[in-house]
Parts: sequence; structure tokens; C-alpha cells
Amino acid sequence: MITGDHAIKKLKEEAVSRLDSAQNAQDLEAFRVAYLGRKGKVPQFLRTVAGLPSAERRVAGSEGNALRKFLEERVCEVLKKIGRNFRAPHSFGETIDVSRPGKRASRGHIHVLSRVFSDIRSIFLRMGFSVVDGPEVESEWYNFDALNISKDHPARDMQDTFWLKALAARRAQVGQNTNVQKRQTSKDRLLLRTHISGIQARYMEAHEPPFRIYYEGRAFRRDATDATHNTQFHQMEILYVDKTLSVANFKFIIEKFLREFFNKDVRIRLRPAYFPFVEPGFEIDMTCVRCGGKKCTLCATGWVEICGAGMVHQNVFRAAGHIPGEWKGIAFAFGVERLAMLKYRIPDIRLFTDGDMRFIEQF
Ligand code: PHE
Repeated sequence: MITGDHAIKKLKEEAVSRLDSAQNAQDLEAFRVAYLGRKGKVPQFLRTVAGLPSAERRVAGSEGNALRKFLEERVCEVLKKIGRNFRAPHSFGETIDVSRPGKRASRGHIHVLSRVFSDIRSIFLRMGFSVVDGPEVESEWYNFDALNISKDHPARDMQDTFWLKALAARRAQVGQNTNVQKRQTSKDRLLLRTHISGIQARYMEAHEPPFRIYYEGRAFRRDATDATHNTQFHQMEILYVDKTLSVANFKFIIEKFLREFFNKDVRIRLRPAYFPFVEPGFEIDMTCVRCGGKKCTLCATGWVEICGAGMVHQNVFRAAGHIPGEWKGIAFAFGVERLAMLKYRIPDIRLFTDGDMRFIEQF
């Protein structure tokens, strides 16, 4: 190969005329590959320079480098002129391999709890319930008093309830634009609802029975956390008010719901239990989804506790402005994480809120 002055001048002339005739981004890229790419003419020239005697090498080397810099800058200028939609490669000599498979964008999917919620909702919608809603920041009145929970009930303790400080409470109220809250007195302390049953009281004082409602949402308890307890969790609840209703009605509805939700022939049993807002009140057990009632390591007894239920206490009707004795109501509530854990064999309730993708992506 010829080196020295003559060669480099020729190379420069040739390169410039080719560069100036570039019409579009493709021409420019072809030029870049041919002259500045790894196997291009300028780097090739610089490689032959290495074999020259030292004095010549210094001159030719610096001329070669100057040419490279000159051409790179010129490429950028031409690029500005022609290429509005063309992005320059990060550095010259680096090429883009258009045949390489792209990075797959993560699309995300519906969280397991949202899926469980929509399954549950659709079952109750088909049974004729309508969906209603209520605030997570609830007043002491709706969360406790209106539900016949006495002032000295242990659930009101500092240990169980997250009370809101006055300022925080006011801010929360600003964000929650329900007209019911406008009627609240300043005496009414605010809290994070410990259950979603406050919606019973809210709905009943605003509506004349009969009605069948479904509501769901987050509840908060100042509990120690473990595999089955979390400081926040979700509930769904049913309130059905009519002239003639009895325990048999909710027994039927709950069993039917569970059979559809788990897609299994489960049975239920009622155990008397105390909830201030129902009388009589029950805890309801379901035959274990794994062993079907034969006893296994999951259930130990063949039964698993699944929900609280009862006939609405007449004091709750009274607090909502209805004449006691005029209506009958049934109410029951499920922990939604519990339903999801049983259905999908999820071992720890904290997995729902930990945000660990290895868990989330399994569903
Ligand atoms: N609100 C009760 C709780 O969270 C559950 C319940 C609802 C019990 C309705 C009976 C009837 O513990």
C-alpha cells in the first residue's frame, strides 16, 4: 500500500466526494462503514502506518487521525442536513445489528387478588346483588357506633385500630368527596376502617329496603403480622335486607357462592359466634378444599374457617333510621386474601403486599 502525503490526500478527496454525494441516511451509513468502520479505509490506512519507520509513522499517523476526525465531523454535518429521522450510532465504529432479537418489553398482567375479586363479584352480580362502595378513611360512627359496637368494645383499642390524627384526618377528608362525610360532626373521630361493615350503616341510612348489595375493599388492623395476619387486607361483604329472611337464606347463598368460587362440592357448617352487629351471629366453616373433609395437614379437622355471618341486629336498623322489627337483614363477610390463599395454595398472606415479582408472576 502506498503511504505518505500522496496516499492520504487521495483518500481524503475520494472520501469527501463520496460523502458529499450522500442523499440519505442509508448512503451515509454505507459511507461510514466503507471509510470509518472497523474494516473501513481510514482505519485500514492507520493500520499500515504501524509498519512504517518511526519518523514517517508519526507524520502519517497524525494525518490519518486528523482525517478520521475530519470525516466524522463531516458525517455529523451531513447527517444534520439530511437525517431528521436518523439517530447517529453512539460512536463511529459501533454498528447496529438489526437482525438481533429485540428485548421483550414486560407487559404486566392482572394481580392474583384483582382476579379473585372479579371472580367473586361476578358470582354475586349473577345472584342479583348490586355493587356499592365506601371510604377507607371511615368515621368512628360508621365503623363502630352505628354497628352496635359499644364504646368499651376492645376492637376500638389503640392496639387494633389505626386512628387518624386531626390534621391527617382533615387532609384525608379533602380527598374523599362523599356527601356523607360533609354531615360528619367534628366530634366524630376518623380512623382507617377495621372492617368494611361501615358501608352497611352508610347504605341503610340512605336507602329504603328491600335491597341486595355487595361491597369490597381494604381494611386495616394494628395487628402483629404473621402468615395469616397483615396490617392491611381485603374483605368482601354482602348485605341483603327484605321482609322475610332467615339464617337459611345466607346458608344457601354462602354455600352456593363457595361451590362456584372453588368449583368444588364444598359443604359448610355454622358455629355460633359473637359480632355486635348481628344476632344471631356465626362463624362459618367450609370442608377443606384439599382433602374434602377427610382431615389433612392443611386443615387438621377437615374444616376451615371461612367467614363471619349473621342476621342484622335491630340496633343497626335503628341507628340507620329504620323502625326496629320492620325489616330483616342478612350479612356476611369474607377475607379475600384467605379465599385466594385457599384457592391457589398460597402459604403466606404477606406475599400479596410484598411486591415480590417471583410471587406475582406465578399467576
Ligand atoms: N365485619 C366482621 C369482621 O370484619 C365480619 C362480619 C360481617 C361478621 C358481617 C358478620 C356479619 O370481622
